[in-house]
Amino acid sequence: MRLGTILSFVFALAGIAVLVKIVLPPTNAEPLRILSSAQCLDCHAGVAEEWQASHHKFAYENPEVRKLSNDFANQECIACHAPRPVLNFEPGERVLARQSERGLGVDCLACHAHPEGGVGTSNPNAKSDAPCRPRKVERMASVEHCASCHNQHKTVEQWRAAPEELKGDNCLHCHMPETWREGGRKGRDHSFKASHDLPSLQSAVTMNAAWDQNGAWVSLSNQGAGHNFPTDERSRAADLQVRWKDAQGEWSLWERVHRFRDPYRDETDLTNTQLPSGETQRFELTATDGAEEAEVRLLYRLNPYLEDALASELFRMSLRK
Ligand code: HEC
Ligand code: HEC
Ligand code: HEC
Ligand code: HEC
Ligand code: HEC
Repeated sequence: MRLGTILSFVFALAGIAVLVKIVLPPTNAEPLRILSSAQCLDCHAGVAEEWQASHHKFAYENPEVRKLSNDFANQECIACHAPRPVLNFEPGERVLARQSERGLGVDCLACHAHPEGGVGTSNPNAKSDAPCRPRKVERMASVEHCASCHNQHKTVEQWRAAPEELKGDNCLHCHMPETWREGGRKGRDHSFKASHDLPSLQSAVTMNAAWDQNGAWVSLSNQGAGHNFPTDERSRAADLQVRWKDAQGEWSLWERVHRFRDPYRDETDLTNTQLPSGETQRFELTATDGAEEAEVRLLYRLNPYLEDALASELFRMSLRK
């Protein structure tokens, strides 16, 4: 072979090597020393934006939580609202409060930081040489992961008892729908929409009502939540209400037909009336004298004592005799 041929071969190889270096992200980048969730935000901008607007981010600053915990004078309340990384604890073990950056609430580290360094994911194809050193942790995409903080009021037990078609594989099925990330990678939505989002609330249940030969009735079916409706927080209440129009065309005041709720521990005179996943409950309505028209509606309250005007109206239907 002539020297020229050999040289051009060598230059071509060098060129390819340079190109590869430019086009592909560096492999074996220095591992990140994980100290704070603030480190994650620039590299995972999409996830960060969703999380910033979520109630997980809000967990320590939330004025409702501050009020009920007497500004966290009740230290027990800090544990799940500003937790240490849950992967430091066995499944089912109680999580503990962290000392630093409590203002970030349930942050990236709380859910992802691995006790041996790096971050947890159940994705077997995750780039294990990325700076944050993803490691395979099966539990990340399981109900046990969420259960570390969300089983206080038995949401996970309710999920286990739900019909198969509503359970999905786990909580992620409904609360972390798939989305696309930079570079065409599949990701999971981190905004955790639920009881503070009207479309999510409306997706939980369907309301039916009619006024037939047997009288007026209304029913509610839980066909969209993989647990009771409402769930988790004892302060949530969903009320079915009715009002009647008299012969003079005057509407009566709204009256309550039924309240779906898990009472506070000290409300010993009340029982749990939440609507389990997959179930339907029907209520007969007794018309006031002379009424030929009615309206039924479903109100959702974040707090049982909240007045009607501050509740979210999920559905309303008109009935005629
Ligand atoms: C210097 C940039 C950088 C920082 C900082 C960083 N990451 Fe990453 N991370 C990446 C890259 C690059 C990937 C691989 C993405 C891909 O597969 O395209 C990745 C992957 C991941 C994955 C696995 C994704 C999958 O495929 O399942 C998780 C989880 C993750 N990062 C979480 C975090 C968390 C939590 C933090 C903060 C402690 C963090 N990262 C900090 C760059 C970074
Ligand atoms: C075992 C974990 C855990 C502990 C301990 C805990 N919480 Fe929570 N808290 C949660 C979870 C999970 C939610 C979200 C449930 C939901 O939205 O229904 C929540 C939600 C709340 C909310 C509703 C926030 C809103 O705006 O929607 C309030 C208020 C609250 N907690 C107050 C407290 C108080 C007060 C204490 C201490 C007495 C406390 N929490 C202790 C896990 C915990
Ligand atoms: C480290 C504890 C912790 C873990 C783990 C956790 N959460 Fe939460 N979650 C909370 C707390 C605390 C709140 C209530 C924050 C607030 O409103 O003050 C909450 C709120 C929520 C809400 C209600 C949001 C709203 O708008 O009211 C949903 C839905 C939710 N979490 C789903 C999940 C799912 C699904 C998982 C598992 C992938 C999970 N969480 C894992 C602590 C946790
Ligand atoms: C089939 C879809 C579906 C599945 C599966 C599901 N959820 Fe939900 N979840 C919903 C809907 C819809 C709502 C809003 C209505 C409500 O509050 O019941 C909701 C509400 C919530 C809330 C907010 C409660 C509140 O009062 O603020 C929490 C917390 C929650 N889910 C946690 C979980 C956990 C934990 C799992 C897994 C064990 C899970 N969910 C599985 C659909 C689902
Ligand atoms: C309440 C728990 C929770 C919090 C808080 C949380 N994550 Fe996640 N994250 C998850 C779960 C669960 C998955 C899905 C894991 C799986 O499929 O194995 C996930 C997936 C990811 C992925 C891969 C999928 C995607 O959408 O790209 C990245 C990257 C990631 N998280 C980064 C972050 C960063 C950065 C933060 C903070 C801004 C954060 N996470 C906060 C629970 C959480």
